[in-house]
Amino acid sequence: MRIEIPREFERLGAVRVYGLQKVYELDAGPEAVTADRDDAVVRSLSSESIYEVQRQMAIVVPVRSERLKLIEGVLVGIPNPCLVIVVSNSPREPTDRFFLEQESIENFCRFTRKQVLIVHQKDPVVAAAFAAGGYGDLLDDAGLVRNGKAEGMMIGTVLARMMGRRYVGFVDADNYFPGAVAEYVREYAAGFLMHGADHTVVRISWHSKPKIVEQSLYFAKWGRSSRRCNRAINQLLSHFTGFETEIVKTGNAGEHALSLDLAMSMRYATGYAVEPYHFVDLLEEYGGIVPSEHGDMRRLVRVCQIESRNPHLHADKGDAHVADMIIGSLATIFHSRLCPGWLQDEILTELRRDGFLKEGQSIAPVRVYPSLGQLDVDRFAAVAQEVVERSVGARFFNAGTPAAPAAVRVPALEVPAGPDA
Ligand code: GDD
Ligand code: MG
Repeated sequence: MRIEIPREFERLGAVRVYGLQKVYELDAGPEAVTADRDDAVVRSLSSESIYEVQRQMAIVVPVRSERLKLIEGVLVGIPNPCLVIVVSNSPREPTDRFFLEQESIENFCRFTRKQVLIVHQKDPVVAAAFAAGGYGDLLDDAGLVRNGKAEGMMIGTVLARMMGRRYVGFVDADNYFPGAVAEYVREYAAGFLMHGADHTVVRISWHSKPKIVEQSLYFAKWGRSSRRCNRAINQLLSHFTGFETEIVKTGNAGEHALSLDLAMSMRYATGYAVEPYHFVDLLEEYGGIVPSEHGDMRRLVRVCQIESRNPHLHADKGDAHVADMIIGSLATIFHSRLCPGWLQDEILTELRRDGFLKEGQSIAPVRVYPSLGQLDVDRFAAVAQEVVERSVGARFFNAGTPAAPAAVRVPALEVPAGPDA
């Protein structure tokens, strides 16, 4: 991959947010270009080095009631070396959609020998594993993992850790273009290669989102939610640096990846508020503004933002869904310990003016889960092992799987006849 070297960054304490990096070639060939000059503006990363990072990466695909064809397309796009972890919260009745998902994924794995784990968010064994690990916060009154995309991502993150991966990335299951998914995962790897394997976040800013406007294709740049979310996070940053900035372009980026060490130390906001809250959490814990509970101020945290080249097309979930997302994402900033009064006023005025809140109505805080560092992963793994073993895709794990920690037994290879057998 040939990719721009970021020209600028904003720094707050130990957090560095780098400017958007453009991609110039999706595949720059097998050779690493060693002669990067001091004045180089682009860097070329060999396909081998990208592949090497992907071998240590898990890609988590959160799913709730998506069409099977879309889920399969997403799996098609994820490069083979990655471990895929599908976390589904699809209903099991009246139709057992999870059964259909498992069947379709098993079939897919048979043809591709891809390493895919599929787990259900409401599996009582998953809940028992969190309870055993001393992390009951994720469980509801019925003792099962709560609903929400973030909650699914957290299950995926801990499974990735248990399976011995070094990086975890996320891709939504409702993406219409497998090629876009393949590109995101390459860019995750490129981000870690350029910014370092530890304490790095890689976030994708979609190049465009195609829409039909008056019977013509229009490639919109910013979504309704991302526009507002980016502005508020930039205002928060500007407030502390004293310099107005537009550096944040990925405030609510669903497509992102983290070093596992960082992912395991962060706090998470529920549902769709999870991505903007990443910024809030990093600034609170590593920004050096308020006393930090978990962040190690001696570690630099790098937020890398990459602009993808494929257009992003996903399922349309309707206006009410976007409104919830807008309120949830701005709520994370509004309720941050860092948010100054003037920004709170501005957020409130904006939400009331645009009809997301009624006059006099305030912004409800969103649920925030404590740092995943509080989870005892070994105890979690001892219980969750069963989920891994009975996952349909586990039968196709092959010998190329990187060594998992001793506590985890990866099921032996057992490949039934496929088209190329
Ligand atoms: N496991 C699980 N559990 N997955 C879920 C749940 C849940 O409760 N709810 C939704 N998902 C899955 C969906 O099936 C989809 O694959 C993914 O999470 C994203 O959900 P969408 O409903 O498609 O969200 P969106 O497209 O409106 O928003 C996406 O983009 C935003 C940025 O524009 C999300 O990734 C947001 O988090 C992101 O901020
Ligand atoms: Mg979507």
